[in-house]
Amino acid sequence: MLVQRSSTMARTMAASRRSLLAQAPRRLQSTEAAPATATATSSYTSILVDTVGKNKDVSLITLNRPKALNALNSNLFHELNAAMAAIDADTSIGAIVLTGSERAFAAGADIKEMKDKQFADVYRDQFLGHWSKMNSVRKPIIGAVSGYALGGGCELAMMCDILLASSNAVFGQPEINLGVIAGSGGTQRLTKAIGKSRSMEINLTGRNFSAKEASDWGLVSRVVSDVHQETVDEAVKVAEKIASKGRLSVQAAKEAINAAYELPLSAGLTFERRLFHMLFATADQKEGMGAFAEKRKANFTHR
Ligand code: CAA
Repeated sequence: MLVQRSSTMARTMAASRRSLLAQAPRRLQSTEAAPATATATSSYTSILVDTVGKNKDVSLITLNRPKALNALNSNLFHELNAAMAAIDADTSIGAIVLTGSERAFAAGADIKEMKDKQFADVYRDQFLGHWSKMNSVRKPIIGAVSGYALGGGCELAMMCDILLASSNAVFGQPEINLGVIAGSGGTQRLTKAIGKSRSMEINLTGRNFSAKEASDWGLVSRVVSDVHQETVDEAVKVAEKIASKGRLSVQAAKEAINAAYELPLSAGLTFERRLFHMLFATADQKEGMGAFAEKRKANFTHR
């Protein structure tokens, strides 16, 4: 996996990924299965990766297993991890949009792939362990959710930093219907997002909930449109806005907000203050505050 590669190899691979990502606006796809080691972005079979936005500084990842309603099999998630790692290392990209189709963001982990697994297999092999790699992406991820976001699909959506939904979005943790429970955050992130009672009801009954409920309960930022493409376009706009800021302060803001989930308030406030102080060592702080004083637009250099 990426973290285990030698630094020389990692540099070479990162350079090759950067060169691929630096090409003109494109849709990357081929028939060859992507390895877990996150190499060439052109080998994806279950996701599409585009560079979008006026300044070509936003990556758009589209889950692309339409016949299986974007069920998250191992290959798809390895490709997603590979794409996320490549984009995270690409200094020209400021934010990521993750989406599915009009019908499904993702209908969960691939039930057909896992139905015959034994305890010894899943425990020994850390089944779904690689899903946690999403948590180490430092660039902001905006999820644009239409259609089904069930089970692992709901969990993947909750791994995003900002969620926008179409009015047809359907969320849920139906694993209880399969004789299991959520395995990648459905009992944890959902509880933090919508509270114990609602999370208990969703997880224990397996009932789905609507985009409006998700919005009313604070799981998504807002319901954007009845039309999937309009939700994606709005997510790209949000991503472009974020990409126009200084990358270091954006990275620090994401780190600080995520720390709020892990730390008690006093430690969180100290952590926030340290990051705030740290940003005074950046050129972007001088530029941002200087531009305000000079009544001009800031030109951030991400340094
Ligand atoms: N895994 C594998 N295949 C899936 C799938 C999944 N999670 N969800 C849908 N599919 C497949 C179906 O098997 C079907 O394939 P075939 O045409 O080859 O039969 C195709 O996608 C279309 O699905 P349906 O015909 O069922 O479509 P529908 O419109 O009638 O129903 C649905 C849509 C309500 C989403 C239904 O497909 C469904 O209930 N899917 C399963 C949802 C689920 O239980 N998700 C949780 C998975 S477990 C998990 O995610 C664990 C975890 O926490 C990590």
